[in-house]
Amino acid sequence: MDTDSSPANERGAESTGTRASAAADLLRDAHQRLAFHVNNSPIPVIEWNSEFRLARWSRRAEELFGWRQEELLGRHPSDWKFVHEEDAESVNAVMQRLLSGAEPRSVSRNRNYTKDGRVLHTEWYNSVLLRRDGGLDSILSLVLDVTARVEADDARKILAQSQKLDAIGQLTAGIAHDFNNLLTVILGNLQLLERQAAGHAAMAKRLRTAANAALRGSDLIKRLLAFSRRQVLSPARVDVAALVRESVELFRRTLGEDISVRTTLADDLWVVEIDAHELETALLNLAINARDAMPGGGVLAIEVRNHVIGQEYADRHGDVPAGDYVLMIVSDTGHGMPESVRARVFEPFFTTKPDGRGTGLGLSMVYGFIKQSGGHIEVYTEEGHGTSIKLYLPRATHAGAAHPPPQAAASAAPRGSETVLVVEDNADLRDIAARFPEQFGYTVVTAVDAAEALAILATRDDVDLLFTDIVMPGEMNGDELAAKAGALRPGIAVLYTSGHPKGALRTGDAARCDTPVLLKPYRAAELARAVRAALEGERR
Ligand SMILES: Nc1ncnc2c1ncn2[C@@H]1O[C@H](COP(=O)(O)OP(=O)(O)OP(=O)(O)O)[C@@H](O)[C@H]1O
Ligand SMILES: [Mg+2]
Repeated sequence: MDTDSSPANERGAESTGTRASAAADLLRDAHQRLAFHVNNSPIPVIEWNSEFRLARWSRRAEELFGWRQEELLGRHPSDWKFVHEEDAESVNAVMQRLLSGAEPRSVSRNRNYTKDGRVLHTEWYNSVLLRRDGGLDSILSLVLDVTARVEADDARKILAQSQKLDAIGQLTAGIAHDFNNLLTVILGNLQLLERQAAGHAAMAKRLRTAANAALRGSDLIKRLLAFSRRQVLSPARVDVAALVRESVELFRRTLGEDISVRTTLADDLWVVEIDAHELETALLNLAINARDAMPGGGVLAIEVRNHVIGQEYADRHGDVPAGDYVLMIVSDTGHGMPESVRARVFEPFFTTKPDGRGTGLGLSMVYGFIKQSGGHIEVYTEEGHGTSIKLYLPRATHAGAAHPPPQAAASAAPRGSETVLVVEDNADLRDIAARFPEQFGYTVVTAVDAAEALAILATRDDVDLLFTDIVMPGEMNGDELAAKAGALRPGIAVLYTSGHPKGALRTGDAARCDTPVLLKPYRAAELARAVRAALEGERR
C-alpha cells in the first residue's frame, strides 16, 4: 500500500503540522504564563546559570534590592556589593553544594545589601533545575525578606535581657538599701568608740580593723547601688574629650607597656551632662577589662564622636531613645567573649576571672551608671579578635560651657556653732546623725518624722539647718518637708541624706538639683564638711 499518496496520509501530514504548531503555541503560552507569574510574584525570583551568573531577576527583586535586571545580567554575585561580607563564606558554601550536585535544593539565611547600602536579612529557597541529560541547567532562588522578623527577635531578646537586669536591679536595690542603713550604724558607732578608745592602742587597732571592713562593705554597697541605678549622681556639663585625655594619662601606666592606647577624639564634640567622676570610673573599668583580655599585649582604642540615633533605629531597638549622643567606643584586640559570656556581662557578680581577681561588678556598675544617666550601652565581641563597648552619652539639652571635673576638697573637718535639726525615723541612725554634728560644735535637735520636725520648727526659731532623709515613711518625703520648712522659716539651710535616692532626685527642678545630698554611710568628717557647706551655701 502506498500510504504516502493517500488522502488520509495527507491529512496525517497536515495534522502533524497542526500538532507541532499547537504544541509550539502551548509552549509559548506556558512560557508567557511562567514569565507572568515570575514577574508578578510577590516573592522575588532569581535565576542563576551553571556558573552562578545572573540569568533572571524578577521585578519584585528589582523593587526589593534596587538593582535592575539589565545592570546585573551575566554577573556573579561577588561582582557587585550584594552579599554581606560576614556572610560571604557561608553563601559560597551553599553555592558550591548546589553547583556540585551535592544538594538539589537548600534553604539558607544571610544578609544582603540593597543598592542604596541598606542591610536586609534574607532567607533563600534554592532549587537546582536539571537538563534532560542530567547536567545542571540553572538554579532558581526565591528570596524572603525576613529583616522585620529578625529585628523584632533581636529587640525581644534585648528587651528580655534588660527586663531581667531591671528585676535583679530591684532586688539588689532593696538589699543595698537595708545594708546601707546597717553599715551607717556600724560605722558611726565604731567611730564614736574610736574616740573613746584614744590611748588604748590595742583596742583602737581592733576598732580600726572593724571600721575598715565596714568601709569595704560600704564600697560594695555603693557599687550595687550604681548597678541598680540608685546612686546619687552629680551631673555637670562635661567635655568628654578632655576627660578621656586626662583619664588616659592616669591609667596608661596601670595597663603596662605591652598595651598601646590610641585615642581618636572628634573636634566638634557635643557637651554631655553627666557625672564626670563616675564616667572616669566607667572608662577605667573598661580599660582594666581590656587589659585583662590582652595578657600578651595589644591595642586599646578609645574613639569619641557625635552620633544621632534616628526614630526608626530607636523603634527597632526598643531600649534606646532617639536623640543626639556622644558615642564613646572602647575597643581592645583581646580574646573576646563567647555568646554565653556576652549575654551575661552586665549581671552583678558575673565574672570569668579566678577567685579574688574579679568581683563581676565592673560592667554592672557601668551599665547602671549609663542607664541612670539616660544613656545606652552595647557590647560587640568576636572570640579571638576583640571586644568593643559602645557608650551612648546623651547630649546636654541646654547651652553653656563645660566645667572641668570638680575637685574633692581634702581640707580638715570644719566646725560650727549653729543649730541642726536632724530628721530620721530609724532610732540608731538618728543617734549617729545627732552625735556627729555635736562633735563639731553644733547644737542638735532631733525629730522622728516630718510632722514632728515641722512641730519643732513652729515652736523654735533658732534652727539653721534641716538635715533630713529624702525617703521617709509617712505622709511627707524629705523634699516636701524641706519645702514646708522653707515656708515656715525662710532662709533655712537644707542638707539631704540618703542611701536610696530613687530617680526622684535627678528629675527635680533646678532648686532641688542644687541641694546637697550626703550619701549613707557617711563618715564624721564628711558630715562635718557637708553641714558646713550647706550652711555657707545658704548665706551666699
Ligand atoms: N574587654 C573584654 N574582653 C573580654 N571579656 C570581657 C571584657 N570585658 C568584660 N569581659 C568579660 O565579662 C566579665 C564581667 O566583666 P566585669 O567587668 O563586670 O567583671 P570582672 O572584670 O570579672 O570583675 P571586676 O570588674 O569586678 O574586677 C569578665 O569576667 C569577662 O569574662
Ligand atoms: Mg571588670
